[in-house]
Amino acid sequence: MDLLPTPPPALAAPSFALVVAMDEERGIGKDGDLVWRLPEDLKWFRSVTVGNGRQSVIMGRVTWESIPERFRPLPNRSNWVLSRNPSLKLPEGVHSAASLDKALASCSGPRFVIGGGTLYAKALQHPDCRRIYLTEVAGSFGCDTFLAPFGPEWQRTADLGGGEYEDIGYRFVQLDR
Ligand SMILES: NC(=O)c1ccc[n+]([C@@H]2O[C@H](COP(=O)([O-])OP(=O)(O)OC[C@H]3O[C@@H](n4cnc5c(N)ncnc54)[C@H](OP(=O)(O)O)[C@@H]3O)[C@@H](O)[C@H]2O)c1
Repeated sequence: MDLLPTPPPALAAPSFALVVAMDEERGIGKDGDLVWRLPEDLKWFRSVTVGNGRQSVIMGRVTWESIPERFRPLPNRSNWVLSRNPSLKLPEGVHSAASLDKALASCSGPRFVIGGGTLYAKALQHPDCRRIYLTEVAGSFGCDTFLAPFGPEWQRTADLGGGEYEDIGYRFVQLDR
């Protein structure tokens, strides 16, 4: 794609959004990592979650560990890692919380749940989860982690364009409820 779409204005708290890429089987990852390499999707993810630089990303511990050390914490965002392990070691400045509600209550500004499967499932059940930034990846990638189904109350509100990279097609869409 020539130009990345401009993300819509972020939702104000208490509402929050999910950012996720899934394949045609709802697959999102395998062996604790992503299974496709889509540079445009990484740029899209960055532009949605960085915003004005005062936004928070909330992730599960496995997703945190999947980010190579040189790329974490994700810059220009407040990083929140969920874990039930009170002795989890995290770099200075990275926040941890023992539940999604505790993280949501503690972070200010727009919030984005960025995976993985366990945390997405929890977030989709949360009444303040109002938007999904979904990258639809064409094909099936033999994933072992999946995005929980979401109901018909989720309406497609925008098709933000798509493209193809190394024979993998993708499309950025927005759903709201
Ligand atoms: N395609 C995408 O957009 C995308 C995005 C992100 C990740 N992924 C993929 O998803 C996979 C990882 O997903 P996953 O389901 O295995 O792991 P995950 O959701 O990233 O992390 C699970 C861990 O996070 C903590 N946790 C999750 N929910 C919690 C809650 N409500 N309260 C307290 N702690 C909570 C627990 O940590 P403790 O065990 O420490 O208690 C739990 O074991 C990887 O393959 C990754 O690459 C894909």
